[in-house]
Amino acid sequence: MCGIIGATGGEDVLDVLLDGLARLEYRGYDSAGVALELPRPANATSGPADGVPLWRARAASGTTSLDELRKVAHVAPKGALAGIGHTRWATHGRPSEANAHPHLDCTATVAVVHNGIVENCRELAEELIASGHELASETDTEVVAHLIEGELRRSSEPALDRTSQVGEEGRLAGAMRAVIGRLRGSFALAAIWAGEPGTIVAARRVSPLVIGAADSAVAGGSSQVLLASDIPAILGRARRFLLVEDDQVAELRPGSVAVTTVDGMPVDPPELRVDWDLDAALKGGFEDFMSKELHEQPRALADTLLGRVLPAGTLALDEVRISDDELREVDKVFVVACGSSYHAGLVAKYAIEHWARLPVEIDIASEFRYRDPVLDHRTLVVGVSQSGETLDTIQAVRAARQCGAKVLAVSNVVDSSMARQADGVLYTRAGPEVGVASTKTYLAQLAALDILALYLAQLRGILYPHEVRRLLDDLGEMPSLVEEVLGRSGDVLAVARSQRNTRDFFFLGRHVGYPVALEGALKAKELAYVRAEAYPAGELKHGPIALIEPGTVVVGVATRTRLWEKMMANIAEVRSRGATVVLVANDGDEEAGAMADSVLWVPAANPLLAPLVDVVPLQLFAYHLARLSGYDVDRPRNLAKTVTVE
Ligand code: G6P
Repeated sequence: MCGIIGATGGEDVLDVLLDGLARLEYRGYDSAGVALELPRPANATSGPADGVPLWRARAASGTTSLDELRKVAHVAPKGALAGIGHTRWATHGRPSEANAHPHLDCTATVAVVHNGIVENCRELAEELIASGHELASETDTEVVAHLIEGELRRSSEPALDRTSQVGEEGRLAGAMRAVIGRLRGSFALAAIWAGEPGTIVAARRVSPLVIGAADSAVAGGSSQVLLASDIPAILGRARRFLLVEDDQVAELRPGSVAVTTVDGMPVDPPELRVDWDLDAALKGGFEDFMSKELHEQPRALADTLLGRVLPAGTLALDEVRISDDELREVDKVFVVACGSSYHAGLVAKYAIEHWARLPVEIDIASEFRYRDPVLDHRTLVVGVSQSGETLDTIQAVRAARQCGAKVLAVSNVVDSSMARQADGVLYTRAGPEVGVASTKTYLAQLAALDILALYLAQLRGILYPHEVRRLLDDLGEMPSLVEEVLGRSGDVLAVARSQRNTRDFFFLGRHVGYPVALEGALKAKELAYVRAEAYPAGELKHGPIALIEPGTVVVGVATRTRLWEKMMANIAEVRSRGATVVLVANDGDEEAGAMADSVLWVPAANPLLAPLVDVVPLQLFAYHLARLSGYDVDRPRNLAKTVTVE
């Protein structure tokens, strides 16, 4: 998840870009950069050949990237006509200045910024290199700058039925239309070209993009026109906001915005009414970051799945630097993690054992390294950590490597400490998470680990290709199912209201519902400060059932997964002892409904993938419980987002 911004017209283009980047930093801070289009010298003739080169500055120093960029930008030539900027959350290519946007073409007259993932970047890069282009970065974005360069060159070649060269206006947009037709994946792109001064061309598919303008600009006046990944980045400068739809191309010039389809047909972009103040806007209109991040979960899932499936329907894990032969040799998997990441690992155990038929052990990282685990070169140790900086997990994978095991890191942060120490990395692509209690990164971990399980199953020949494809299709449905549950937040609030004075909860689940119960209980503990114990429901009768008395609140994960009937029998046991029962159950399941005092309804999903959906009402439940008590959901007491001590 990166952030892009652009501005054309006005006296303060560079300031607009830098201020906007500060507001977009929540989308990533691996690097920051700007490119400016400078006025032509008075003696220059028209035509792209005389276009002055662009001025570009970039910095890649983690959280201080933007400060560093400001220092460099201090010396920027004054009077920029237009400019684009970017703040990066690395996905393709490590965080470095060379990989920082904006990226340039070979002539340094085209600059491009990008949010999203170009899935077919490798084949495009090979084609570009074969035709003589020189690529300077490891990013998926740079190919776009070179493809635009190629299209611009093509459009300048005199046609047989034309005597004069085509005018410059509209050529960049034409090039962009041709280029996006060749891209697979998701993108919000903005490009400038020295040959068309004062014009920014933007395009999008899936990734967000908004255009902003002062009233007079949209009406044809002469004001500044802006673009950004989100409204807050340009709020206060723009009064009117236009939305660009998928596969549309927008041309921004001072005082005008023209939007066309990929075929060049003009369209009227819908206008968005915005009456937020800046604080609300930074949280995307939500009350807090947690709520915003909960709602980003469908996107986080979709991005994590993107590009992992080859056109032939097979899986490809291109970031994994362990060979397929080495993976085929693996005879045992260990998952090590802490907190929510540990719960993601617990779900993965079911998936890897069932699909790939490999034995899986899962351990809390702080315990693993001190218990002398038996590992060798045929053991795959999967370290799961959204930050990749949790000391316990880093130490655990380090110890595993010393024993000769292969280490795979599942991390949300490119080049995190854990990623650097591992033999391979599988990145989740949830974007930065501000809320201390993990939500979207947890869901993205579940998806990444499912992909790993299917990959192992495919390599080991346990599942037929058509079975893998069917499961991938099921996985592809998860973002919309999660979206559906998020739309029911009001129903969850009503249940939370009925439990607002409860201080003790039991969370029960079986099979994959058990880790879901653990995660639901953890969320309730860390956010609402209630005692919440999670148990495998079948274990209740061996002790904890002694604590059930009239009024005890039991939250059960009772969707129709493998052990639904047994789960319902366990629910009957607590009901008969007077417990108040809240169930997570599948839409239309009247039998489950009849066993509960309240139900958190969710759509049915493939049983092994159901945790992705079933955990969402429990996240919402903890969120609402905490808010009803007036607690700060973004910064729960005593907790840290990243724990870098033992
Ligand atoms: C902290 C956070 C948790 C997180 C855990 C592991 O305790 O509060 O939300 O699950 O760290 O973090 P990691 O970055 O390793 O996934």
